Amino acid sequence: MKNDLPIWYPFTPIKQAPLPIKIEKGKGAFLYDTNGKAYLDAISSWWVNTWGHTNPEITRAIKDQLDKLEHVIFAGFTHEPAEVLATSLLDISEHKFSKVFFSDNGSTAVEVALKMAVQWHYNQGKPKNKIIAFEGAYHGDTFGAMSAGARGGFNQPFESMFFDVLPIPYPATWEDDDSKLFKEKSSIDALKKVIATHKNEIACLIIEPLIQGAGGMKMCRTEFLKELEVVCKENQILVIYDEVMTGFGRTGERFAHIKASTNPDFVCLSKGLTGGFMPLSVTLTTDKIFQAYYDDDKMKTLYHGHSYTANPLSCAAAIESINQLRIHHKELIRIQALFSSYLPLLKTVKRIKNIRLCGTVLAFDIQTNNKDGYFNDAGKRLTEHLLNRGFIIRPLGNTVYFMPPYVTLSINLNEMMEEVLIFLHKS
Ligand SMILES: Cc1ncc(COP(=O)(O)O)c(C=O)c1O
Repeated sequence: MKNDLPIWYPFTPIKQAPLPIKIEKGKGAFLYDTNGKAYLDAISSWWVNTWGHTNPEITRAIKDQLDKLEHVIFAGFTHEPAEVLATSLLDISEHKFSKVFFSDNGSTAVEVALKMAVQWHYNQGKPKNKIIAFEGAYHGDTFGAMSAGARGGFNQPFESMFFDVLPIPYPATWEDDDSKLFKEKSSIDALKKVIATHKNEIACLIIEPLIQGAGGMKMCRTEFLKELEVVCKENQILVIYDEVMTGFGRTGERFAHIKASTNPDFVCLSKGLTGGFMPLSVTLTTDKIFQAYYDDDKMKTLYHGHSYTANPLSCAAAIESINQLRIHHKELIRIQALFSSYLPLLKTVKRIKNIRLCGTVLAFDIQTNNKDGYFNDAGKRLTEHLLNRGFIIRPLGNTVYFMPPYVTLSINLNEMMEEVLIFLHKS
């Protein structure tokens, strides 16, 4: 059948995909289609929505800002929402960082961190161009972010154009996992080996701390992040935390670096930054990094920026989103506890394995006879079943996960989990 829609949708196999569901409005954890059918947004609309759809305070903040200033060039000019937001971000990061660099999506926040790290060495006359990254990682869809991400699958056509990275294994763990210490040791050993082979060539390491998102909701422990930090610091390797997904409460704490009590050199944030209202991202870094750019030599400047950098409407949304995080921090604990109460029940399901929970993210893998991975459609029937009953999920291959907005009521989450259990036991 010919597709004559005017829109080319992202991440969508255009020939096989069913027509998209048309959403008319949202309220709290629910989306409503044009027929009035309600759907619980159990994946927070690509993990961005933290405080619910059309959250009244964030809506008000954007409307107020709209009457004052919609946008202004962000070089040579500044504005209050960006200044207030920057101070606020440093504050909620417990002053581990001292500079905020704005951009407008997760991929570009990652590009900025990678460029800042590489140029930091260059500016000091010791160029280093090797980057350590984790197997299975996803950092976005721009070329730098793709290069630092897992190879194969989506990126295959471009692979020959990527820069090389040094991959090490991610010590993914789950409930009742007896081999977690062994996997962590293997990762650290692999890191040390790579460092020994490429001494003085490595600029930085990039990791999705505590949860690898698109790679299959793989979770690692805070203990691993601490060990990783020690080795990197000993070897003068800068550490980038890609917290585009894990930021703003997903791991049960404001940020993974706070949960793990670690001190990365860079943190990339986006998604929950504006509560899912407006595109915005930031790269946080330290004075140590900034000082290598603070120079009379103009060639030491970070020549990077985007047209919508620090958009005032986005900044206004983000200021209010941080407020919401401060006020409603207990919701994260409630959702984690609710998911946690389902762990024993999920463990009784024969067809699922690797059940894992970190903060407000619950995941498991459906066992199949075929290969594991994104292109496996084991989660498809569960997705259809739940969609019919008004719950939106979007498995990553045979990995099923739930990542709801923090305002989702317990009664609605319980309804969804009961449906999931009935389906899994029956199928
Ligand atoms: C960990 C991580 N980094 C980067 C990105 C890219 O963000 P964006 O889609 O806003 O470019 C994503 C998106 O899912 C992500 O999960």
